[in-house]
Amino acid sequence: MTILVTGATGNVGRHVVDLLVRAGVDVRATSRNPESLDLPAEVDVRRADLTDPKTFEQALQGVEKIFLYAQPSGIEGVVEVAKAAGVKYAVLLSSMAAAGRDPDHWIARWHRAVEDSIEQSGLAWTFVRPGPFAVNSLQWAPSIRDHQPVRILYAHSYLSAIHELDIAEVSTCALLQDGHAGARYHITGGDSVTQAEQVALIGQAIGRELAFEDVTGDDARAELRERFGPRIQVLIQTGVLDPMATPEIIETRIRYYVEALEGPAEIDGTVEKVLGKPARTFAEWAVDHKADFTKRSVS
Ligand SMILES: NC(=O)c1ccc[n+]([C@@H]2O[C@H](COP(=O)([O-])OP(=O)(O)OC[C@H]3O[C@@H](n4cnc5c(N)ncnc54)[C@H](OP(=O)(O)O)[C@@H]3O)[C@@H](O)[C@H]2O)c1
Repeated sequence: MTILVTGATGNVGRHVVDLLVRAGVDVRATSRNPESLDLPAEVDVRRADLTDPKTFEQALQGVEKIFLYAQPSGIEGVVEVAKAAGVKYAVLLSSMAAAGRDPDHWIARWHRAVEDSIEQSGLAWTFVRPGPFAVNSLQWAPSIRDHQPVRILYAHSYLSAIHELDIAEVSTCALLQDGHAGARYHITGGDSVTQAEQVALIGQAIGRELAFEDVTGDDARAELRERFGPRIQVLIQTGVLDPMATPEIIETRIRYYVEALEGPAEIDGTVEKVLGKPARTFAEWAVDHKADFTKRSVS
């Protein structure tokens, strides 16, 4: 059986490749820049872009299952190419937002557009819907490496951030075992901690007490505009987002942080149900990523 992994350079996709190789599966991996991939020698690497479905025509020949990143622009073409090539099953890296209480939010619409296309395609599928990734905390790594205080938006808001390896393990189970077709797996990390506590746990992992600044209100709005601006522009240009929605995106995010101050964040048991072991905690993630907070990457 050959399984194709898109997003093989991604935090989750890279682990999916390794887990499948370890399971003895024939793995094909795609990237828009395959020369940047550093994968086990037995992996068959191809260049492909989800926004350009014909780039998957060759890559999908002989493939039975696919691990997909969510890219609404091109998804209908990608599922057509997949079906024509004989693919039977797709595991999609979606988002908890797809089932969220804010169905018009752009992140919900982005992922639901892809889920809808897959559901209507006739392929069998599993939708893996994680909450916030623990790896988002790497945004703090430059400040921590530079011994500067970490700027945290709403530092006392709670998250149950999920380790990328748990997402990859759940996805790999769905690819390799029977019984996951039609499942929408809402998955979270193993504990609820505030962002300030996350910084403290990173400090414990690297053996240094870390300072932070709590950024709220208009300062947080300004930082969000800077952070989301380029992605919002892409969404407006591709028609996914109405330009009038931009201020609402920022306000929705602020509301999310403010509500999360109440805590604790929800901890879901799905990872344990699927894997037979509890989801990893943030402290475990911090230990696994010690090097990211202590070493400078060579560019
Ligand atoms: N961060 C969160 O809190 C969160 C929460 C819920 C869900 N999610 C979902 O998880 C995704 C991020 O996962 P991650 O952290 O593993 O990703 P990542 O490390 O940011 O990497 C993104 C991957 O997507 C691939 N990709 C992007 N555009 C592509 C295209 N047009 N065609 C083919 N591949 C493309 C990239 O591949 P190449 O560059 O090699 O082509 C790369 O491997 C988000 O996009 C979202 O859908 C994230």
